[in-house]
Parts: sequence; C-alpha cells; structure tokens
Amino acid sequence: MSIGKLVQKAYFILIFFLVSNSYAWAFKAEEPCKRLVLYYHDILFDGTDGVNATSAAATNATKLGNTTFGMLVVFDDPVTKDKHLVSPPVARAQGFYFYDTKYVYNAWFAYTLVFNSSEYKGTINIMGADLMPEKTRDLSVVGGTGDFFMTRGIATFETDAVEGIKYFRLKMDIKLYECY
Ligand SMILES: *[C@@H]1O[C@H](CO)[C@@H](O)[C@H](O)[C@H]1NC(C)=O
Ligand SMILES: *[C@@H]1O[C@H](CO)[C@@H](O)[C@H](O)[C@H]1NC(C)=O
Ligand SMILES: *[C@@H]1O[C@H](CO)[C@@H](O)[C@H](O)[C@H]1NC(C)=O
Ligand SMILES: *[C@@H]1O[C@H](CO)[C@@H](O)[C@H](O)[C@H]1NC(C)=O
Repeated sequence: MSIGKLVQKAYFILIFFLVSNSYAWAFKAEEPCKRLVLYYHDILFDGTDGVNATSAAATNATKLGNTTFGMLVVFDDPVTKDKHLVSPPVARAQGFYFYDTKYVYNAWFAYTLVFNSSEYKGTINIMGADLMPEKTRDLSVVGGTGDFFMTRGIATFETDAVEGIKYFRLKMDIKLYECY
C-alpha cells in the first residue's frame, strides 16, 4: 500500500471515529428530570358494586380468540403513593384500555393522570401497549399540563396484584425527561 493510500485510510478511520463518538454523545440517554412512583387501582364494575367500582366495560368482548378481544374499559381510577387502596389518592387516572390480542392478554392504554393536590396541579398524558406477559412494560408519556407542562418520558408498568377480573393494581414508575 502506498503512503498516500495509508494516509487516506487513517484519515477515514479518524473521521469515522469522531462521527460515531459524537452520535453516541448526542443519543446518550439522560437521567430523568423528575420521577414519580405511583400505584393505579382498577376496580371493575360487576353490575352490583356501584359504590366501590371505578371502571366499567363499555363494550363486551368479541368471540375472537379467548382473551376478551375488543372489550373496552373506561376508568376513573384512584392513584396512590403506596400499594394501599385506602390511602388518600394523589391523582386520578382517567381514560380507557381495551384488549387487543387473540390468544394472550394484552391491553392498550390511553389516559390522563389528573393531579389536583397541594403538591401537584396538572396532568400527565400516557399511552401505549401494555404487553401483559412481560414483567415490565414501557408506555409513552406524550405530554402534560400545569406542573407537568410539555413533559415527555416513559411510564414503566409492573402488575402488582390481580384479584380475578374484579381488581388489579399496577405500579407505574414514571420517568420524565423533559421538565420546564
Ligand atoms: C366497598 O368497599 C368497602 C371498603 O373496602 C367495603 O367495606 C364494602 O363492603 C364494599 N362494598 C361493596 C358493595 O363491595
Ligand atoms: C354485554 O353483554 C351482556 C349480556 O351478555 C348484555 O347484558 C350487555 O348489555 C352487553 N353490554 C354491552 C356494552 O354491549
Ligand atoms: C387461548 O387459546 C390458545 C390456543 O388454543 C391457548 O394456547 C392459550 O393458552 C389460551 N389462552 C388462555 C388465556 O386461555
Ligand atoms: C381541585 O381542587 C380544588 C380545591 O379543592 C377544587 O375547588 C377544584 O374543583 C378541583 N378541580 C378539579 C378539576 O377536581
């Protein structure tokens, strides 16, 4: 190899190194600017417990598959800082989920966390697939208002308790990467 070719090769390697390094820097995940760990309690209306229920099926499941495909549940659920349903709620979770897979339980969520306390006022909007067989699932935080103005981030779900179809509890680990 001639000296000229060698120099050219070294030059390209140097350029490649610089470019790939700057990309790595540009896309490096940052630390969240705010983090909230909250518990979501869903008590499905069974037709009789109108006092305690916080969600209700608005459509019945279809006959496709065996995992309630097409059932849509609208909820106004309490959200607490710890696992206890009786703890004072710090927010409401208002929105819906529906089941969208034939042979495994999978849901799709779109909802707003509504905060109206002395600690926080405002909303966080969350949507995405809840791939229930996974231990943890990441949903997108797509926006916010008030104390969470224009926020974005990730809400990591983990199923914390299930009591038949009547009740389930999710741990939501909300990591916000944009705070203003
Ligand atoms: C509602 O919840 C309260 C407190 O947990 C319980 O005592 C009551 O029996 C519940 N009512 C119904 C209809 O399930
Ligand atoms: C669901 O099905 C039940 C009976 O199978 C019926 O009573 C009820 O009205 C249906 N609900 C909706 C929202 O279609
Ligand atoms: C649904 O049916 C499929 C195929 O028959 C089966 O493999 C699966 O275990 C069933 N799922 C549930 C939740 O019953
Ligand atoms: C928020 O709380 C205040 C004070 O308790 C109350 O007046 C207001 O109606 C609440 N707003 C919502 C949207 O719940």
